Amino acid sequence: MSIDATTFKQAAGSFASSVTIVSVASPQGFQAMTATAFCSLSLNSTLVLACLDRNSRTLSGFRNSQDFNINILSWEQQHLSRLFASRGTGERSLDGIKFRLTDSGLPVFEGAAATLECKCVELVEGGDHVIVVGEVKNAAIRGEVEPLIYFRGAYRRLAALEE
Ligand SMILES: Cc1cc2nc3c(=O)[nH]c(=O)nc-3n(C[C@H](O)[C@H](O)[C@H](O)COP(=O)(O)O)c2cc1C
Repeated sequence: MSIDATTFKQAAGSFASSVTIVSVASPQGFQAMTATAFCSLSLNSTLVLACLDRNSRTLSGFRNSQDFNINILSWEQQHLSRLFASRGTGERSLDGIKFRLTDSGLPVFEGAAATLECKCVELVEGGDHVIVVGEVKNAAIRGEVEPLIYFRGAYRRLAALEE
């Protein structure tokens, strides 16, 4: 007997997480997608992982490039999460979005809580997803910031508990 998909999604969605944009260098610029399935993996070596849908365009970018980065969004960046989660027929418009490109052609979004620059060292199959393992080469961290949180299908902000 196996668990049904709805129960699985509801249970897994009860794990509150930050929201990231995973971007990979591509000849056309960069491919990017919203991902909450991200975590740090190892300190020595400095590794992180992200789980990407087998059918995502962003994953296909890893065939051509080892360079990728992770922007960890702040709460003001909900629009970026929605934009890079869309699977529109046309290209996504980046009009009005402030970012700079790294030497590898990857976007660093203004206002992100942190940005990690990585080299892909391994792709591991995981059902209908692929686990991208990246070695972190560099990171930029913004000072005062509140993260964007995703919990049970909705965006949230972090609230501090009374001491
Ligand atoms: C809050 C949120 C979190 C998401 N997390 C993931 C994730 O961790 N892995 C994944 O494969 N897709 C995730 N998605 C879905 C992708 O962002 C979506 O399928 C996107 O259109 C893929 O873009 P691409 O095909 O251009 O790469 C998430 C979507 C949302 C709204």
